Amino acid sequence: MAERNDLIIRFGGEGGEGVISAGDMVSQAAARSGLEVLTFKTFPAEIKGGYAMYQVRFSHEKILSEGSGFDVACVFNNEALQANIKSLKEGSVLIYDFPGGDIEEEQNIPGVTCYAVPMGKLAKEEAGNYRSKNMIALGAVAELFSISRDGIRGTINSKFGKKGQDVVDMNYKALDIGRDHIRNNYKKTDPYKMDSGTPQEDMVVMSGNEAIGLGALIAGCNFFSAYPITPATEVGIYLSNQLPKFNRTLVQAEDEIASLANVIGASYAGAKVMTGTSGPGVSLMQELIGMASIMELPVVIADVQRGGPSTGLPTKHEQSDLLLAAHGCHGDASKVVISPEGVEDCVYLTIEAFNVAEKYQLPVYILSDGSLGLRTSSMKRPDPSKVKIVNREMYKKTNGDSYNRYALTESNISPMVHPGEEGCAYISASLEHAESSAPRYTAENHTAMLDKRFNKLVDLEDFFPATEVDEQEGATLGVLAWGSTIGTLREAIGIVRKEGLKVSAMYPKLVWPLPEKAMKPFIEKYDKILIPEINKQGQLAKVMRGEFNFEPISYTIYGGLPFTPQMIADKIKEVI
Ligand code: COA
Repeated sequence: MAERNDLIIRFGGEGGEGVISAGDMVSQAAARSGLEVLTFKTFPAEIKGGYAMYQVRFSHEKILSEGSGFDVACVFNNEALQANIKSLKEGSVLIYDFPGGDIEEEQNIPGVTCYAVPMGKLAKEEAGNYRSKNMIALGAVAELFSISRDGIRGTINSKFGKKGQDVVDMNYKALDIGRDHIRNNYKKTDPYKMDSGTPQEDMVVMSGNEAIGLGALIAGCNFFSAYPITPATEVGIYLSNQLPKFNRTLVQAEDEIASLANVIGASYAGAKVMTGTSGPGVSLMQELIGMASIMELPVVIADVQRGGPSTGLPTKHEQSDLLLAAHGCHGDASKVVISPEGVEDCVYLTIEAFNVAEKYQLPVYILSDGSLGLRTSSMKRPDPSKVKIVNREMYKKTNGDSYNRYALTESNISPMVHPGEEGCAYISASLEHAESSAPRYTAENHTAMLDKRFNKLVDLEDFFPATEVDEQEGATLGVLAWGSTIGTLREAIGIVRKEGLKVSAMYPKLVWPLPEKAMKPFIEKYDKILIPEINKQGQLAKVMRGEFNFEPISYTIYGGLPFTPQMIADKIKEVI
């Protein structure tokens, strides 16, 4: 039996049946055994009911995206079977709840290896609790694909330990019942087997949302305020566990407006601050984002995008807040938008977001998305001693000096003071102000202050990590993507190059203001520029068209799911 280097297992079932727990546990166990993992989950907005799906991709090598399709489907009910049956292909494996559940017939699908596991029935009759249905399934999956039983027992203990030892024991028992069902009834006939990798001490598994929290911690964030909102809530949950350990503060506010107002106030007082939300929350925050911009206060806003507009599709994936982040807000408000590609990037680019906010004294978005925020992935443990931390420039008082909070300086950055510093009183107001901070509405003053607030970003592209370009000699097509679509694009580029096509790619993480020095030569060099993104309007394509006056090929999908690498590869082939 050939050992696979890459395997995708998809769990599907009803929300409330423990699909998410099963997926989480198998991914944790595999990661602890030294495999690389990357997960994708999608579930309904309801707490119970509706189709929930959790997909785990395992590999011995670095994983860049959710992948194309799946190899194994483990379905807990008929709805999940129907949702996935059309995607089963020659060589796929199906594990399904039969008999005893709502799947009425034994499955015999040509080319597909089918394992019937009466998950619900065994849970009820042998494990003694229907709740353990997901562990019966997990026992079967672990047995079939060589996923460490001890590893899964470890995750049962850590996940359900707080529910009591009897719950843990019931789940251990169910795990073994699932395993025995396969051992007693089947001889494995499918070709898949994922042997463990080499466990590495310095690997950690975390979600994109947790990674944003970790990045904030490393950057020195000492004040976080947010109002819970799917899919961003977990940023706050992570920080609520971590910040108190370091004697730092978290405030759960009554809404998003209050959250941002809290962090603006804390930033004024000298704290390094962040709020976390999703699109609807960012919509509410617009007036205050303008206020942070005109007051020149460093603020980081983590926006984990979801399907919109309005409450839209809270649990579904979309990249549709770029226009809002870049162009939202009345008046001319300077701000920066940074978008990470993967979980590890969420750590390091959140640190960069703090650095940019502190250096340039303005609101900075870290624009993540639902797929990335909820995804768990393995990565090398970050080493805080190896990152660059930038803090705001503070005013150094010299004798006889009078302090001007909004002093017009050569760099356009005005040193700050802590409120209450002797002889440095100023007004931090949202009204246009003179250098002293006193309100002033003259044409000359507004012009000078607006110029200052935008011109201070003149060296941003050099301050920020360089935009990555992967060019190929002889290519006539350049492709660029943003956010978590970058990982998918990297894989797509690999696919088409293997087939002999020539194509170049760019992976921008600074998405507003656009990194002109990197982007312009790239755009000018290629006959065609293709931009795949997950929104209706082709938002990055629109922004780039406006900035650089050229005609990109916009490739958009907006069905609540990410691209697969194959979809982008097919589009590249079509365009070439
Ligand atoms: N033994 C004991 N408990 C178990 C178990 C087992 N074998 N398997 C699962 N559970 C528990 C889980 O611990 C969890 O309990 P908790 O709520 O105390 O943490 C619960 O059963 C649900 O299981 P889980 O695996 O986490 O989720 P699921 O696959 O059943 O799906 C969701 C449920 C995630 C779809 C649903 O609860 C949800 O959160 N929906 C989204 C809501 C939302 O964000 N809406 C948008 C609002 S704007």
